[in-house]
Amino acid sequence: MKAAERILELRLQLEEHNHRYYVLDAPIISDSEYDHLFQELLALEQAHPELITPDSPTCRVGGAPLDQFGQLAHRLPMLSLDNGFSIRDLQAFEERLCRFLNSSSGLSYLVEVKLDGLAVELVYEDGILVRGSTRGDGWVGEEITPQLRTILTIPLRLRRLVPGLLEVRGEVFMESAGLVRLNAERLRTGEPLFANPRNAAAGALRQLDPSVTARRPLSFFAYGVSAPEETPCASQLELFGYLRELGLPVNELSRFCGSLAEVETRFAELSALRHDLAYEIDGVVVKVDSFALQARLGTIGGAMRPRAPRWAIAWKFPAIQATTRLLDVEFQVGRTGAVTPVALLEPVDVGGVVVSRATLHNQDEIERKDLRRGDYVFVQRAGDVIPEVVKPIVERRDGSEEPIVLPAVCPVCGHGLVRPEGEAVTRCVNPHCPAVRLRSLIHFTSKAGLDLEGLGKKSMEQLYELGLVRDLPDLYALRREDLALLEGWGERSADKVMMSITTAKSPPLARFLAALGIRFIGEVTAGLLEENFSTLAALMAAERTQLEEIEGIGGQAASSLIDYFSDSSVAMMLESLHRAGVEPLARQKVVGDRPLSQMVILFTGTLSRLSRAEAKNLVKEHGGQVATTLTQKTTHLVAGEKAGSKLKKARELDKVILSEEEFLGLIGL
Ligand code: IVH
Repeated sequence: MKAAERILELRLQLEEHNHRYYVLDAPIISDSEYDHLFQELLALEQAHPELITPDSPTCRVGGAPLDQFGQLAHRLPMLSLDNGFSIRDLQAFEERLCRFLNSSSGLSYLVEVKLDGLAVELVYEDGILVRGSTRGDGWVGEEITPQLRTILTIPLRLRRLVPGLLEVRGEVFMESAGLVRLNAERLRTGEPLFANPRNAAAGALRQLDPSVTARRPLSFFAYGVSAPEETPCASQLELFGYLRELGLPVNELSRFCGSLAEVETRFAELSALRHDLAYEIDGVVVKVDSFALQARLGTIGGAMRPRAPRWAIAWKFPAIQATTRLLDVEFQVGRTGAVTPVALLEPVDVGGVVVSRATLHNQDEIERKDLRRGDYVFVQRAGDVIPEVVKPIVERRDGSEEPIVLPAVCPVCGHGLVRPEGEAVTRCVNPHCPAVRLRSLIHFTSKAGLDLEGLGKKSMEQLYELGLVRDLPDLYALRREDLALLEGWGERSADKVMMSITTAKSPPLARFLAALGIRFIGEVTAGLLEENFSTLAALMAAERTQLEEIEGIGGQAASSLIDYFSDSSVAMMLESLHRAGVEPLARQKVVGDRPLSQMVILFTGTLSRLSRAEAKNLVKEHGGQVATTLTQKTTHLVAGEKAGSKLKKARELDKVILSEEEFLGLIGL
């Protein structure tokens, strides 16, 4: 037999045994027989290096360590999930779906376990694994192909030919036993322990040297694909069967549930089962089973800024509680000047995470819970939610406990604190308070802001303390030579930061606005503003009425913006940013030949196939605008049953009038 043929044969055999061993858990040869075949392949490939291909089982751990991770954009965004914590949340979820679909008939779901790991995307081209990445911010992740190849349950080649592209999504996680072993080893070597399987999985994948990843016991379960309509499947249940046939590991605990009652039963079963599983789960994921319905339901956040699918929800297990002692309270001053009491606790293990601090929110919360310094308290942690103090254990008081009182002046700058009538939050109103400034700067460079690499919380604190960065213009005036000399820095970190700053000179307008941390202007509102204004100057010149006309922008946000831009110190700051070359710009809108572009559509009367919400969503997804009243700008009126005065008026104004069917025809439905 020729070497090439034997190599192919060995690869197929090894892959088959791999699959049987790792995925099916049913090997038919011994480990030493496997090693034997593997060695034979290795020897043949060494003798014929020209025959080595990346899908060979010998190439799972290969390649030199990387310098840094590359960025990889997802073809379609990787969304997150909304959370529910009770059957009531799930009922509300189902009601929303029925309302959206304008239907009262029951829905069917697939209930899956929610694994506590890291979401990744695997890209297969013609059945071969070519790329893999982390979820990142949902749009762009880190390329970790060599690291993913080391996970033995991930097939390098699918077991059936799938022509073209298949983007598989799933969770990389570490089994509990593997985590215990890894932590024991880290204890011996004096390295910090991983608090939970998610951190351990993330730590293992983010190793620049894939041979380190290979030594960590990682597993993978596939739970979806980027574009179900590109598969032969009609439902999530069918997709699981399909992925399994392709050789991808899928979790066997998933169940089809014909009603919410069945979902509830399955949730209870899994709650009881979770402690016997080899891996940690923190809840279940409930997904509408039908892909046709999933497509109709679409995403929350709209086509421009999808955040989570409307058709799925994560139902989290109840929080894990522990008891400990509330030793003291620290008062933190945040970016908005809000003074937040933080409980300093005797460190305690809460379901695998050591907790030593927990927010107490505000004075009212402290009083409502009647917490005192020195109390024994219950603390809890639900999934990835920040730990919180639930209540004091009054029975354990010995009289030495002391009341907790908010200070009268800012603990950082000494300026008087203000608590406006009817508000729970007490604030430091000194705009020059160092805490407010530092926190604002940290927000600007953080993930919620411009996400500048190398300028995390620690670095910003350092730069602030040294007086190098006290305001935003300072940030843009940083010099490479100053940075390189700082303690803990070097040429490379200085270069990295200089690069970040360069990219931060032309940020997308929405990101820039969100980064400024203007009150009531979060990510969503900032996105709406970007859609309506193409430059910062245009936004600054906007009249109040112009802002309020934008659907989704309320009076509070509009006032806040007007106040912000009319503050002279803000104007000066923005002016110096401009001089430093900072120019935020709106991303190019996707115009062109989308079916409803240029159309402003108003709905009236009762629609029969669509709910109002679905209809409006469809307009936006297809490039149109939704009108709320009949105005000059309105181009089309879609009239349902019992359309009244609006229909009459639209006729008079010579607007195009469509039936529901005609509207659906426009977008090919
Ligand atoms: S579906 C578009 N299914 O949970 C739907 N996610 O909170 C997005 N996760 O980023 C994901 N198990 O890391 C889905 N069976 C499952 C999951 C699951 C765990 C994670 C995933 C995602 C996060 C969202």
